[in-house]
This record gives sequence, structure tokens and C-alpha cells, in this order.
Amino acid sequence: MKGLTATLVATSSLLFSGIASSQITEPVTVKGNAFFVGNDRFYIRGVDYQPGGSSDLADPLSNTTVCKRDISYMKDLGLNTIRVYTSDNSASHDECMELLSEAGIYLILDVNAPKFSISRDFPVASYNEVYLQHVFATIDVFSKYTNTLGFFAANEVINAANSTRAAAVVKALIRDMRKYIAKHSDRPIPVGYSAADVAENRREMAHYLNCGSDDVRADFFAFNDYSWCGPSSFVQSGWNKKVENYTDYSIPLFLSEFGCIEVKPRTFSEVKTLYSTQMTGVFSGGLVYEFTQEPNNYGLVQIDGDNVTALTDYDNLKKQYSSTKNPPGDGGYQKDLPPSDCPERTFLWEASNTLPDFPSAASAYMDNGAGKPKGTNGVSSQFVPQSQKDYNLPGESGAPAPSSSGSANQSDQGAAAGGMAGLAAGGLWMGIVVGLGTIAGVMLLF
Ligand SMILES: *[C@@H]1O[C@H](CO)[C@@H](O)[C@H](O)[C@H]1NC(C)=O
Ligand SMILES: *[C@@H]1O[C@H](CO)[C@@H](O)[C@H](O)[C@H]1NC(C)=O
Ligand SMILES: *[C@@H]1O[C@H](CO)[C@@H](O)[C@H](O)[C@H]1NC(C)=O
Ligand SMILES: *[C@@H]1O[C@H](CO)[C@@H](O)[C@H](O)[C@H]1NC(C)=O
Ligand SMILES: *[C@@H]1O[C@H](CO)[C@@H](O)[C@H](O)[C@H]1NC(C)=O
Repeated sequence: MKGLTATLVATSSLLFSGIASSQITEPVTVKGNAFFVGNDRFYIRGVDYQPGGSSDLADPLSNTTVCKRDISYMKDLGLNTIRVYTSDNSASHDECMELLSEAGIYLILDVNAPKFSISRDFPVASYNEVYLQHVFATIDVFSKYTNTLGFFAANEVINAANSTRAAAVVKALIRDMRKYIAKHSDRPIPVGYSAADVAENRREMAHYLNCGSDDVRADFFAFNDYSWCGPSSFVQSGWNKKVENYTDYSIPLFLSEFGCIEVKPRTFSEVKTLYSTQMTGVFSGGLVYEFTQEPNNYGLVQIDGDNVTALTDYDNLKKQYSSTKNPPGDGGYQKDLPPSDCPERTFLWEASNTLPDFPSAASAYMDNGAGKPKGTNGVSSQFVPQSQKDYNLPGESGAPAPSSSGSANQSDQGAAAGGMAGLAAGGLWMGIVVGLGTIAGVMLLF
């Protein structure tokens, strides 16, 4: 075992030094409401990639056996992007990121992990120095790769009318991540948000994250969308309305999950529409949910140890991608749209336009860098608020203090309760909603 490890290390460092200079992925940049590589418009042709799914959450980009096994299939599918929902910032990602780069594949990474994310119920308390260290260290690790396309600051935190106040913390985090990247990274890396497929506040969230001064606005916005099911159409799926609704939206927009499974096998007829000029003036492609077959049945491939079996959905998606060209030219993108107006604060949209201040206890990380990445196994950052000040957001006062179970912090609760049970009991494990998100109105968490 020891010998094997040594050999692997030797091989990998050789491999790494050998290909470091031959990366083929030039960084993706944002211009107007679109992504570009150099002067060419870039459309996301991607999949969501989290082998093991939510039940066996592991960083797929720190395990070369895993990423090597899968990348040839990704390439064969014609992909240029994957989204990974969680990573271990203390592990090395050099090899997998190099292999992806050689295959022309970019990464959009969620910066959260189950123990390190924004809590939907206690957003203020979860926005603290432990959490920010995690996020900034994750940025440090991934910002050095040219094929890091962007970061999701958060995923589906706002999922219903009663969680909209948490949007202020999401926006504060986006502000902080952008500031950190500007200070500590060699290049700008776009930061955005992935919204749940929830009609009642998706539009507000999109506008909220794209309003206000330059330094607080997101670089892109994405939402999960399962409205094109089986044989459908631009109009029948309602995608025409989404194009209409976001025609004046000034930053890149894409589908962070798509691929309804109400009708199986999936034919992915939506691909032709997604990359047609009916949509490309407003949308920049999307990510199919999801690469591997997991219990929720959305997979393109079945994994069994080292063996990968392409499923019918895989073949269908491959056919669609290979027969669907991008539109000529720039696809009708818009480069000079103004930012959005901030949505009015109503009982349906409670997020304040005054963002919480950056936690002073984290200022050393912002100023000097996050320091050593601590991985995903430490004490959770999701503290249960102990006082009113850890509960109220700017503009709020006298909000009911949360009924803490008496436990000092989340690590105690989480460890005791574990996974799904912890969620039901504490309602805390929310920022990273790995797995399915909202399908057919049902939130499936972990
Ligand atoms: C990498 O993944 C393979 C396949 O799932 C697994 O057998 C192996 O233990 C993993 N290696 C590490 C270091 O986690
Ligand atoms: C929102 O409502 C759901 C369902 O009624 C409830 O479980 C959850 O705790 C509420 N969240 C907040 C932040 O009030
Ligand atoms: C489009 O915007 C209108 C007005 O805000 C909203 O009522 C409607 O639900 C939106 N439609 C879609 C498909 O997002
Ligand atoms: C993988 O495929 C090979 C060849 O078809 C087969 O012999 C082996 O048993 C398979 N392994 C697993 C874990 O299914
Ligand atoms: C959280 O719990 C850990 C482990 O029990 C403890 O070391 C830490 O001080 C606690 N943090 C707070 C804020 O109470």
C-alpha cells in the first residue's frame, strides 16, 4: 500500500509538471449578459457531477481514480462544463483539474460543504469567521486553475416565501467573495447563485442579486429548471416566458440543473431550443442533472467500481449535443444592459437592501488570506444564535429570538442527529442542498 502510494505520487507529479504548460482552457470571462472565452461566446454544455450523490458525499475532484474514470465519458458526451456541489479544500485537485482542462472542461464549484454553509433558518449566525475561512480557503485552492469558470456562493438557500430574508446574507457573501477574489486571485473569477425551481420568488432573487452598487452585485445568476418534460416545446415548457422575463437582465443567466424525468428515457429535445437564438440572447446554456445514476434516477451513466455503463439517457444527450451547434456570431447577447432595480420589500420578499456588515472577526482572512484550508471535517460553522444580535438582519428588530435547543452550536446537534434527522430536527443544514433540489415541488434534502 505504501509502495503504491509512493508510485502514484511520483507518477502524478511527473504528469502534472508535464502538462502544466499545455492547458487548453483559457479562462472564461463575463461580458454583458454572456460568457466569453477570448472573443468567442461561451455556452455552458454541462452536467452536474457528484458521484455518490448526497448519501455518499465525497469530493470527486480529489480522487484521480474517480475523475479519470469519468472524464473520458464527459468528453465523449461533448461537455465543456461540470458543476460540483461540494469539495474538500484540504485535498489536492491538481490532477483532476489538469485532466479536465486537457479535455476542455471547465468547473463551476459550489463553495459550501455540509458543515460549512449559510443556514436558511439562522442566516446571520451562520455568517461568521469560521464559515468565511472555509469559503476563502476554497477560493484560494480553485482560483489557480484556468478552468475554474466560477463559484456558486450558495445553492437554493431561498426556497420558499418564508426564507427570503436569508437572501441578504447570500448577497453579503457574494460581495465578500468578489472582494476576496479581487484582492487575492490573479484573475477575476465569476461568483453567482443557483436558485431553486420555485416560481414565487425566483425573479425577485435574480433582481435582488443584480441590483445596487457594483461591489455588491453577482457576476451571474442560475436557476434549476424542471419544466421541460418529455416531448415539449419552447412555449409548452414555459421557457418562452422565462426568456421574456429576463430579456432585460444584465448578467449571464443559465440553468444550473435541467432534465425532467417525468418521461423516461429522456430525449433531451430541449437541447435544440436551449442553444438556439430563441434563447441565447438571454441564456447561456445549462447543466443536465446529473452525470451518475443515484437513487433518485437522474443518471446518465451507471457506475460500478471502475466500470462505467452509459445509459439510454447518455446516448440521447450525446446525440442532441453533437447535432446541436451554437448559434453563429455572438448569439444575440446584450452587452450594455443596466443592472436590475432592487425588488420592493414586501411580506413575500423580506430581504433588506442593506446588507449585513462583514464580520470583523474575519477581517484578517480578507486582508491577509484565508491561510491553510481546514477541510470539511472540523467543527461546523453553523452556530445556533445565542442572542438577538445573531438573529436580526439589518432593518429588522425585535425578531423573535430563535428557540435554541440549548446546544452551544451546530456541531453538537449535527453530530448527534446526523444527516436527514439533523435536518428535520434542527432545520440547519440548508446552504448546501446537494442532490435533487426541488423536483415537482418536493424538497429532497440529502
Ligand atoms: C477513490 O475512489 C475510489 C472509487 O470510488 C475508491 O475506491 C477509493 O477508495 C477512493 N480513494 C480515496 C483516496 O478516497
Ligand atoms: C418555513 O416554513 C417551513 C414549512 O412551513 C418550516 O418548516 C420552516 O421552518 C420555515 N422556515 C423559517 C425560516 O421560518
Ligand atoms: C414572469 O414574470 C411575471 C411578473 O413578475 C411573473 O408573474 C411570472 O411568474 C414570471 N414567469 C416566469 C415563467 O418566470
Ligand atoms: C466490470 O466489467 C468487467 C468486464 O465486463 C467485469 O468482469 C467486472 O466484473 C465488472 N466489475 C464490476 C465491479 O462490476
Ligand atoms: C462548539 O462546539 C465545539 C465542540 O463541542 C466547542 O469546542 C466550541 O467552543 C463551540 N463553539 C461555540 C461558539 O460555542
